[in-house]
Amino acid sequence: MLATMGALGLAPTAEAASREPVFHAPRTGDFTLTGRGAARVVVVGGGIAGLTVAYELGKAGYDCTVLEARERTGGRSLTVRGGDSTTDLYGNRQTARFSDGQYLNAGPARIPQWMVTMDYCRELGVPLEVFTNVNANAYLYNEKAGMTAPVRYRTAKADVYGYVAELLAKATGAGSLDADLTADDRERLLEFLKSFGDIGATLSYDGSTRRGYRVDPGASGTPGAELGPVPSASEVFASGVGRYFSFEFGYEQAMLMFQPVGGMDRIPAALTRAVGGHRIRTGAVVQRITDTARGVTIAYTRGGTVRAIDADYCVAALPPNILARTGHNLGAEVQTALEACAPSSAGKIGLEYRSRWWESDHRIYGGITETDLDLGHVWYPSYGHHGRRGVIVGYYNTGAASDAYARRSPREREERAVAQGVKIHGAKYRDELAASFSHHWRQTPYLEASWHSMAGGPDAPVFGPLNRPAGHVYFAGDHLSYADAWQHGAFTSARKVVTALHTRVLA
Ligand code: PHE
Repeated sequence: MLATMGALGLAPTAEAASREPVFHAPRTGDFTLTGRGAARVVVVGGGIAGLTVAYELGKAGYDCTVLEARERTGGRSLTVRGGDSTTDLYGNRQTARFSDGQYLNAGPARIPQWMVTMDYCRELGVPLEVFTNVNANAYLYNEKAGMTAPVRYRTAKADVYGYVAELLAKATGAGSLDADLTADDRERLLEFLKSFGDIGATLSYDGSTRRGYRVDPGASGTPGAELGPVPSASEVFASGVGRYFSFEFGYEQAMLMFQPVGGMDRIPAALTRAVGGHRIRTGAVVQRITDTARGVTIAYTRGGTVRAIDADYCVAALPPNILARTGHNLGAEVQTALEACAPSSAGKIGLEYRSRWWESDHRIYGGITETDLDLGHVWYPSYGHHGRRGVIVGYYNTGAASDAYARRSPREREERAVAQGVKIHGAKYRDELAASFSHHWRQTPYLEASWHSMAGGPDAPVFGPLNRPAGHVYFAGDHLSYADAWQHGAFTSARKVVTALHTRVLA
């Protein structure tokens, strides 16, 4: 009887038990559509927004079909592992040679705690771990400012905070703030500055244990030797290291941050499973979206064959720059709005090393080194500590600098990134390299953008036609949110659209 019940899905089977994810979502999501809808919906684009539309509408009873132009779902939520291949629009073909367990999140890679992405991870059972976005032991290196060696983040921070505190204390003492502060305020400000800058009773900064040690403290007899010499205030400000500290104050980038265990594509993979593979057609390139009196007709090609699918509604969740080149009868205002979504550029390179020398030699376990080099940042992996190998992000660039790398061949990108990284990390940055893989979103077929620049924000009048349905066609994507370039933007945009669509169907 148990076996029969198992076959009917009423009791766990041995097979089901072996497929069971180790993590169980403690409760269902906070987003539910009330009432059942029975409409047919075609979702164009199988990234986070499109998958979420199909997932949420599916829960409410809709019959959804997702058309995805690429061979895989996930859109920009791409995790590259050993054996994965890409061909970009320049014709560069790469196959990743990463070893088992190593990966590069070529797209999104960090999740703030407040974003709804966290709720979907909980609901879908995607295990999370901390993503280290800031590390006191990582480096700052401003070559253009004349730095000849990197400085630890903690050292730079001690010096900048120390001198700022000293100068503010001096201004307070000199009476410069008397018009703004009462005597009590000034006392309290000085108390704060003493601890903020570690400037002591003298109210002057002359170094601090916060800078770090040349010899670390240990057993009795080894008090440690502080790192010196302490640069002057003028030298510290000239080095420009202070510019990096506001990063961690940002609402989007403040620690703690998180990542899915095993790669960012665990999120679209879980969504894809939840939607159901039979509802998703990959390799389906949409040619035309036609709004009709009764619904929509979507023409697409798949495997060289032209096909059409009719439905009651369409949700266009593909990149706006691609939709702008796709046939449609949605009107000139929609077209103008689509063309106003300006595609941005970004690129990353993953460098796999034979040893985790940044951990053993530099004592850097995750986090980011910030530079003024054209590689932008260097990310150390937040997973696999003390393992044998690891993948460093050797550049992560947006804007003009990322295009400079994009136009080079994968080998040239690697050479350039490594030559720069050597300046900060020494010879092992070159000698221990095992494999690399570089990815540029502007040159990725069917995406052609890292994200979009929306002049005036998503609610600017020009984008109005994308924020409401055009007949039976709705638009979704992170570009239509206040969190573009975040999965959160795609999730929230998708929720807004399914809510509007469902309300209409019920009415
Ligand atoms: N979300 C991406 C990141 O964290 C892109 C981004 C960068 C978005 C900075 C906003 C600000 O890298």
